[in-house]
Amino acid sequence: MMLATTKTLCLALAAAVLVAASAEVTPWMNLQDDPESRAHALLAQMTLAEKVTMLHGHTEGNYSGNVPAITRLNIPALNLNDGPQGFRAPEKLSGTSTGFPSILTLGATWDPDMAAAYGTAIGEEFAGKGANVYLGPGLNVARVPLCGRNFEYLSGEDPFLGYTLVQPMVKAVQAKNVIANAKHWINNNQEINRDRVSANVDERTRFEMYYPPFEGAIKAGVGSIMCSYNRINHVYSCENNETLGIDLRQRLLGSQRAWVVSDWLATHSTSLVEGLDQEMPYGLFFDSLLELDLDLDLHNVTVAAIDNAVLNILTPMFAVGLFDHPLNGTVEANVTSPAHNTVARKVAAAATVLLKNDAGLLPLNATQPMTIGVFGIQGDAETWAHGGGSGSVTPPYIITPFQGVLDALGIQRPAGHTGQEDAPVGPLCNARQQCVTYYEGQNDTITEALAEAVDVALVAVGTASGELLDRVHLGLGRGQDELTTLVASHNRNTVVHVTCPGAVLTPWRNDVSAILVGFMGGQELGHAMADVVFGHVNPSGRLPVTFPNVDNEVGFAERQYPGIEDHLQTYYDEGLEVGYRWYDAHGVTPAFPFGHGLSYTSFNYSGLTANSTGVSVRIANTGSVAGAEIVQLYLGFPSSAGEPPLQLKGFAKAMLAPGATTTVHLPLTDRDLSIWDVQDHAWSKVPGTFQVQIGSSSRDVRLAGSFTVSQ
Ligand code: GLC
Repeated sequence: MMLATTKTLCLALAAAVLVAASAEVTPWMNLQDDPESRAHALLAQMTLAEKVTMLHGHTEGNYSGNVPAITRLNIPALNLNDGPQGFRAPEKLSGTSTGFPSILTLGATWDPDMAAAYGTAIGEEFAGKGANVYLGPGLNVARVPLCGRNFEYLSGEDPFLGYTLVQPMVKAVQAKNVIANAKHWINNNQEINRDRVSANVDERTRFEMYYPPFEGAIKAGVGSIMCSYNRINHVYSCENNETLGIDLRQRLLGSQRAWVVSDWLATHSTSLVEGLDQEMPYGLFFDSLLELDLDLDLHNVTVAAIDNAVLNILTPMFAVGLFDHPLNGTVEANVTSPAHNTVARKVAAAATVLLKNDAGLLPLNATQPMTIGVFGIQGDAETWAHGGGSGSVTPPYIITPFQGVLDALGIQRPAGHTGQEDAPVGPLCNARQQCVTYYEGQNDTITEALAEAVDVALVAVGTASGELLDRVHLGLGRGQDELTTLVASHNRNTVVHVTCPGAVLTPWRNDVSAILVGFMGGQELGHAMADVVFGHVNPSGRLPVTFPNVDNEVGFAERQYPGIEDHLQTYYDEGLEVGYRWYDAHGVTPAFPFGHGLSYTSFNYSGLTANSTGVSVRIANTGSVAGAEIVQLYLGFPSSAGEPPLQLKGFAKAMLAPGATTTVHLPLTDRDLSIWDVQDHAWSKVPGTFQVQIGSSSRDVRLAGSFTVSQ
């Protein structure tokens, strides 16, 4: 016994000596120290060349961007990869990562728990692929409905929605030792001429409308931020001292360290002092840093500036665990899994917005005999599931709307059925006399006959968009509007399911019985749609963007969008009147308002109490099925504040069984009651009486009240 104890003691002593020695040799690996202290300890050991190595990307490898490891000091490589809706793998590895719903689709869930689940799955897949920097989420506010990248942006048209949902998502990604990247800072609100256009926008509008989603990411400890291609007030974003150096660094980050990485080839100078820390994908400007005589403080480049940039990178690397949990994933790994397929399906279903449901047509009763016709190119022939560009992901599969219905009814897909057939495929039936037929809709006569023959017509329509291009109109195109109208004129039980990258026009909305919107639903979109159509999921999605009646309903002049002088200058003359804020300020009723979404059950609101610290309201499920209500709080500022009529300042998802009630508390902070004061360059709480509107959308107000903030 004595011998064993002595041996144990010797081993413990030896281990202690090793740790002590190690701490002397690599003090930055001391887990007891805070991340910034560890970063300083490591910086002290680095040569100037090693520091500069970290300030720009290097070889074109398997990842979107790469900074090689510095093995002498055990500094891990940085492997940065796209995109917001999943790991974009090299072509030869297509299908080895999950095609999640797009980030705007996640926004349509209005559900922080969904955002966390999404972030966890993303973090796991990026870690599994050996990528320790996730180039997402996209956070730009959808100022322009036509913007080609709105599908990648979490905020939709409201800064508070983005500010709130980004936090659980960033925390979840980074909990997997993968650094998230808030992009694209800032005012990259269009794709037309994105790398030259100047977004001319005033300070108050930037702080109140465009910065909050990034503030949310910063509050969640985001490790990196991507500066954008465009100019702001005539100065390129990645060298813009006002937006980058002052607004982001001083006013938003303060002493918190995160690094600013350029968008790819978005640099125009060695703008370290203005606030850029790292140049991607390689060092156009930053690789010459060593040639500068740094003592001469040329180009504003000094050793101190280099050290500061390296600290901005190393600190989040320590904070997110990149040193203590080095990744062992590889880009070749197949990181898909049934669990992540389920996450993709659940998010897509939770994001599904029920815009209309006349006579309670939905959900369809899957126990009764029925005949269903699935129409439309989106239905099976050519199904959009993702948007295009750097954020696109080639998924291992796509469940089309037709496939989703087949699976829901337990019907086998005919061997060899491609969806490209010229004639209807079906009816395909199960033992419960439930039959489904798919027809793309090429021939009107066939379409009419099938529409008349079935109990329910399900028209799957879709459009997409991508990076570098803005949409030219908000219509669906591809003859889909005409097909929808035709089917509806021959079947009074017509359901439309819309796949879209943002707002779309719905000219047939009064002709059909039910409308579902799935945004870009990802690889599981067909299952998600069927889950809602057959009532396995009670829809709780809410519009993160207004659906207008017509194109450019807000009346943007060319100088506002796409810009004048050959699209080189855009002026944000609308100020804070973006999206529903414009509709409220101008008394216009949209086709479907921001925050709108129906349920298969109903909810009652009562017992509103409101003051400057928050709002409480009782919610009851007065229907016959369980469901979730997204309780939304809109504030009207005192008129002296010069704010839009109403602004989202709180929301919560309340899941209730039939007959159940709950009290929802929505806290308010001084910041929620403030405007950005451009004299003091700070938030200023507004005295006076605030109008409170609680409801199921920005236009479905159930209870109203007010409270007063004293001078
Ligand atoms: C692209 C995109 C950015 C992406 C980066 C790397 O141009 O703007 O979102 O992360 O380059 O591909």
